[in-house]
Amino acid sequence: MSLDSTSDELRETFKRALRRFPAAVSVITSADQNRRHGMTATAVTSLSLDPPSLIVCVNQQTLLHDIMLLARRFCVNVLRRDQISLSSAFSGAVPAEERFGLGQWMTSAEGVTYLADAQINIFCKKAAAVPYGTHTIFIGEAETVNVRDPIEPLIYQDATYCFSVPHDSQAA
Ligand SMILES: Cc1cc2nc3c(=O)[nH]c(=O)nc-3n(C[C@H](O)[C@H](O)[C@H](O)COP(=O)(O)O)c2cc1C
Repeated sequence: MSLDSTSDELRETFKRALRRFPAAVSVITSADQNRRHGMTATAVTSLSLDPPSLIVCVNQQTLLHDIMLLARRFCVNVLRRDQISLSSAFSGAVPAEERFGLGQWMTSAEGVTYLADAQINIFCKKAAAVPYGTHTIFIGEAETVNVRDPIEPLIYQDATYCFSVPHDSQAA
């Protein structure tokens, strides 16, 4: 890609480049006074160990965005490789109010709904919300973390669900 590309070309190539980023698939859950909601997201990245924190990038057009602006807490539920149907449901295949009918959802003492058999639950206190372009970057400080074995997260790469295999386990 040359530097004098048109912005349309740049956007297209940028999209193709990002499809080559493998990312773990999560369902982000949160609740305000009246509503709870969950949404599939891959734009989830570690931020710092001190304090233990991460970022989640959420489109401002989504219902989750409205709820997270009001909420004090959210949970990052990293899916296991056999939970593709939850990723589909929570990215629009199932209406918002019916999504929690699928899978083993529970509610924490703080009122955050979480997936009991996810690969990981990271319960976060919302520390900041930074709007940028079409999205808002939510910074979460981890309060509680549940980690489950075996390590088999659901991965999204090139618009396809995948799973990771350690390099050493490949036959030479
Ligand atoms: C694999 C995958 C990853 C996604 N990652 C994000 C993300 O990081 N941020 C985001 O705002 N939307 C993301 N989406 C889109 C939302 O899940 C989708 O637009 C959602 O249905 C819209 O929210 P609502 O229907 O709950 O309002 C992703 C969708 C899929 C299938």
